[in-house]
Amino acid sequence: MKQYFSFQWHITDECDQRCKHCYIFSEDNCKKLDSMSWEQMQETFHNCLDFCKVYDRLPYFYITGGDPILHPDFWKLLELMKENGIPFTILGNPFHLDDAVCQRLKEYGCEKYQLSLDGMRETHDWFRKPGSFDISLEKIGCIKRAGIRAVVMTTVSGTNIDEIPDIIDAVVEQKADVFAFARYCPTSGEKEVGIEPVRYRKLLEDCDRKFRKYEAEGCETYFNKKDHLWTLYEYETGAFRIPETVEEGMIYGGCNCGNCHLTILPTGDIFACRRVQNSKVGNVFTDRIADVWICQMEKYRDYARFEKCSKCELLAWCRGCPAVASGRDGNFYAADPQCWKEVV
Ligand SMILES: C[S@@+](CC[C@H](N)C(=O)[O-])C[C@H]1O[C@@H](n2cnc3c(N)ncnc32)[C@H](O)[C@@H]1O
Ligand code: SF4
Ligand code: SF4
Repeated sequence: MKQYFSFQWHITDECDQRCKHCYIFSEDNCKKLDSMSWEQMQETFHNCLDFCKVYDRLPYFYITGGDPILHPDFWKLLELMKENGIPFTILGNPFHLDDAVCQRLKEYGCEKYQLSLDGMRETHDWFRKPGSFDISLEKIGCIKRAGIRAVVMTTVSGTNIDEIPDIIDAVVEQKADVFAFARYCPTSGEKEVGIEPVRYRKLLEDCDRKFRKYEAEGCETYFNKKDHLWTLYEYETGAFRIPETVEEGMIYGGCNCGNCHLTILPTGDIFACRRVQNSKVGNVFTDRIADVWICQMEKYRDYARFEKCSKCELLAWCRGCPAVASGRDGNFYAADPQCWKEVV
């Protein structure tokens, strides 16, 4: 069976919000907003398909921005996806969705639509903009009515960590299909996530308890344990075990960077990961992605260089989040600041 390869494709920076934590606006709130032209989008699309052909992978696109729906050729791009039978998810905002728009997204083949919730009402609206919390919750129903899976993602930091359990309750109440959280990656003056390792472990423990309770009640929401530190947590609780036979040097899971994921920005810049600020590896308008993948990407697969993880028995399944680690001082191989494991 062919493996999927995912392209996180930021087609535009245009956005109705200027979230306080956003990696797009972190260095400069007045930044020039980049967008791809239609010709550039077609070129990018074919470069991605060429890559998949070379490496015998199935393409999957996460189309995002900004808010991708604000791109003037957004629907043309979806038409291109449909013509080629390529599955995709949209990571966007709630503001321009209604039943007719969601129905149209469904007709073009949109499988999932991801919205963000970064706190309960006051905190979320402080991060994003007034009214954003209520409209985000409301649009979950709109997405679902069209037969698209509604995904809610929370970016966790010291500011909103105490609110995660309440966010889970709100998301379950709205019957979202998937809920996940990932950590804030320091991308501006603020170089800390603001969470002590033991506090982060406690969050996972509290969430695990809540997820189990909801699952036992037959709730519709799937809880995606996206952060790789879940592997460490489950290793400790016995829910994850290292298999008896493992191949030396083989990578079985953990961070996708360098394995099955790339990000493309509106400028055409290719990033190993959007959350790693200095991870530009090429540009889709001048480079063949298939070449970039074996040359410039190699250093992201150099697992022996991971300063703490290389000495840990969970290396092949975890590696924490190198984007959070590199947010401090740009060192991709540094120890994950929330990893609570003692490694000698
Ligand atoms: C760039 S946004 C694009 C989609 C949409 N505008 C939204 O906000 O959901 C995609 C995701 O990246 C997250 N994000 C932005 N800046 C981040 C950062 N510095 N660290 C971690 N996640 C970040 C957002 O919170 C959101 O969940
Ligand atoms: S809505 Fe999304 S893209 Fe826009 S500023 Fe917020 S996180 Fe960034
Ligand atoms: S040291 Fe690395 S691989 Fe081991 S548990 Fe921590 S983050 Fe995961």
